[in-house]
Amino acid sequence: MAFVCLGIETSCDETAASVVADGKTVLANIVSAQSIHSIYGGVVPELASRAHLPLIVPITKTALAVAKMDYKDLNLIAATYAPGLIGALLVGLSFAKALALGLGIPFVAVNHLEGHIFAVLLEYPDIEFPFICLIISGGHTELILVKDLCDYEILGTTLDDACGEAFDKVAKMLGLPYPGGSFIEKLAEKGNRNIKFPLPQIEKYDFSFSGLKTAVLYYLRDTKNPKIEDIACSFQEVIFDFLLNKMAKVVEATGIRRVAISGGVAVNNRLRARVKAFAQKNGITYYFPRPELCTDNGAMIAAAGYVRYQRFGSSPLTTPAQARARL
Ligand code: KG4
Ligand code: ZN
Repeated sequence: MAFVCLGIETSCDETAASVVADGKTVLANIVSAQSIHSIYGGVVPELASRAHLPLIVPITKTALAVAKMDYKDLNLIAATYAPGLIGALLVGLSFAKALALGLGIPFVAVNHLEGHIFAVLLEYPDIEFPFICLIISGGHTELILVKDLCDYEILGTTLDDACGEAFDKVAKMLGLPYPGGSFIEKLAEKGNRNIKFPLPQIEKYDFSFSGLKTAVLYYLRDTKNPKIEDIACSFQEVIFDFLLNKMAKVVEATGIRRVAISGGVAVNNRLRARVKAFAQKNGITYYFPRPELCTDNGAMIAAAGYVRYQRFGSSPLTTPAQARARL
């Protein structure tokens, strides 16, 4: 009999539920993105919390139906407890705890960043430890040394905006919808890299994106008839230069030649092509989870929850939601 885990993720603006068997087989992965934020050009926390409420039960029921399962078939419930928008986290976390209590099965709390690492492990169960994991999403930019299962060291982080946030803010300046990452990617395909945006100069393995964002703002202000395709292309390429520079640096310092990239920005095909070229040139093996595992989802939470439960047992039902938390 398979051990079935329901994974619930509501840390930002996606309401997600997934059914995963034995920590490795995704039987259902349902995600509902909230469209309400598009008119504001960014996530409005209060609206995100409220939008999760009417969705969490139907999304869970849909996940169970797709997995051809019933509540009674579940063995474990995992939910994101941190980091994220506090109101948004509370919806999924409270729902997961109540469901576990009602069904008389264990509950396990998962850190969202650990979820993004498990997206890699779900896709590549045979990946060797240690490996480097770069998480680039709307809320996070983290360079992590994954030493073993549940054993991590944060090597670098962003000092200001997250990588995806920079995409979203520049997209907004260019008049593109929210979230803007995929729109920048499409626009960039039609443009040329002919604008010199400055490569951020940041110590060690840390990141910074706010200077680049300001550079785009000034360029738009000071340029007559700016070509937005060229802005998108030049901006995207300098971001990827920055990410690849950090990657090169960490590979050189650690000697670890396995690099995984997860999070919403990892969906970007131009990034995938650039990482492929970089990896081939430098003798590195690279790992990108499929797009639906890169963006926020419940499967990565279920996969992480399964392993945490096997290793450390269940989490107390008193576990609080936390806006910030270390991995
Ligand atoms: O992982 P995710 O779904 O949510 C967070 O944990 O934040 O990531 C969403 C982020 C957004 O900032 C979005 O603009 C970005 O990922 N994104 C992209 C692309 N698709 C999504 N950025 C660049 N290129 C893309 N194709
Ligand atoms: Zn995320």
